[in-house]
Amino acid sequence: MKTVKTIEEVRRQVKEWKAQGLTVGLVPTMGYLHEGHASLIDASHRDNDRTVVSDFVNPMQFGPTEDLDSYPRDMERDAALVEAHGGDLIFAPEPEEMYHDGFSSFVDMTVLTEELCGLSRPVHFRGVCTVVSKLFNIVQPDRAYFGKKDAQQLAVIRHMVDDLNMDIELVGCPIVREADGLAKSSRNTYLSPEERKAALVLSKAIFRGMELVRGGEKDSAAVTGAMKALIEAEPLARIDYVKLVDAATMQQIPTIDRPALCAIAVYIGKTRLIDNFFTEDV
Ligand code: PAJ
Repeated sequence: MKTVKTIEEVRRQVKEWKAQGLTVGLVPTMGYLHEGHASLIDASHRDNDRTVVSDFVNPMQFGPTEDLDSYPRDMERDAALVEAHGGDLIFAPEPEEMYHDGFSSFVDMTVLTEELCGLSRPVHFRGVCTVVSKLFNIVQPDRAYFGKKDAQQLAVIRHMVDDLNMDIELVGCPIVREADGLAKSSRNTYLSPEERKAALVLSKAIFRGMELVRGGEKDSAAVTGAMKALIEAEPLARIDYVKLVDAATMQQIPTIDRPALCAIAVYIGKTRLIDNFFTEDV
């Protein structure tokens, strides 16, 4: 297992593998890896001959008041985790390697990015689409792995790959949770012990929503209403959104009459956490 910092080194290695007829999987990450990321690396290791993990805190997807500077980093721990899960190469560029002076091309998307997280994070998906496009161009993987934890991100990238005819198979992987239900996230490290307890309200609301849908509830407002009531009972929680949307277009639907996504974003103190379920998975 090797860690490289330049685009040229990644290209050289991937070319060598492809010349040997090997398949390549890509797992894009922002580092500070946990079992959620590990499950993506496992899936890529299972499906491909070689796995590249990118480890890059992408400045472009953070808004001016967001947590770019405090985002947790630990390259040594990341390298050990990647190696333990069968990854073959880490690409950990400096920002200057990805965004040279005068960088001025962006991948922008309408509609899907104007709902859910796009409303409170207006520049976020432009940064995600741009960096993921660059990573796809740099690595040219056969397959790329994304978690359902970031359900809107997965839908946006699926749409981008389709719109722009990118020849890459996307694989969506299930949400990995802590034993008590909280979805694993690099941002969970921001939580104080008291906030960590309060954060359980997200997964409790998700499980309640799933239960209602499993029981045949079709009225979106009935599902989101029950979930909101649960979250509002937690004093440390402040709702950003609790919504039911069409799983492909991310537009809100009044009735669950097609594959849908129920997504929530909740502030616990200053930390913004997300969670979700697809109605197809309940
Ligand atoms: P990051 O938050 O590091 O997440 C990297 C990948 O791990 C994403 O596809 C995310 O959905 C997945 N992931 C995170 N927590 C998970 C969990 N609990 N269960 C399953 N999968 C999980 O998402 C990003 O980075 C960035 O936006 C990126 C795509 C790398 C572009 O910069």
